[in-house]
Amino acid sequence: MTKLSVNINKFATLRNSRGGNNPDVVKAAIDAERFGADGVTVHPRPDERHIRYEDVRNIKKIVTTEFNIEGNCSEQKFVDLVLEVKPHQVTLVPDALGQLTSDHGWDTIKHKDYLTDIIKVFKNAGIRVSIFVDPDIKMVEGAAATGTDRIELYTEGYATAFLENKEKAIAPYVAAAEKAKALGIGLNAGHDLDLNNLQYFSKHIPWLDEVSIGHALVCDALYMGYENTVQLYKRQLM
Ligand code: PXP
Repeated sequence: MTKLSVNINKFATLRNSRGGNNPDVVKAAIDAERFGADGVTVHPRPDERHIRYEDVRNIKKIVTTEFNIEGNCSEQKFVDLVLEVKPHQVTLVPDALGQLTSDHGWDTIKHKDYLTDIIKVFKNAGIRVSIFVDPDIKMVEGAAATGTDRIELYTEGYATAFLENKEKAIAPYVAAAEKAKALGIGLNAGHDLDLNNLQYFSKHIPWLDEVSIGHALVCDALYMGYENTVQLYKRQLM
């Protein structure tokens, strides 16, 4: 079954808006697991505008499911943090400095040598590696050539197109997912997945290993409660 990893960055955004420690991001991670999530994701950025490096260290101490750290590996600070904390998985994202949110996957052909080298660094430390890619067959083939364990399909395009035409929206993702399966690499997905579009995605790509969901899940939790919301998302994946 596809795992649900809850991205708790938005709890940190809320906390940072007032100083202090409310809401407590460590509690947000503990509760995600208590409510049924299969993993916890954080995305520390160099400016620490949401999850801070110290949060990542504290969350690692309490996670009992799967811990996924995503971020920009061109920052040495990020690489050092991941190697220190040793999560189950690192997801490499080609973010620019100060970027609002991730908005594109890797060019796995242009950056093949760089990716191959950095992936080795994490794999040698016993950390599973996933790299963020657009649903493009060439990029999936390029990813397989880097030695990555998994890819994470960038699903913003799916979420936007889903509102107009579901079949058209899912088609490139199924093709990319089939290619990944044929090449023997694992498959994650994330960005803009929500209670409207998640089940359709999951039904069409049942071999999906994991989704990581933050923004919509935290927004839904404000209205429906955190426990109820985590369980609703889990049910979309059954
Ligand atoms: N995957 C990656 C690589 C991301 O950068 C993000 C956003 O931090 C997500 C998944 C989750 O996206 P969303 O917050 O829209 O659920």
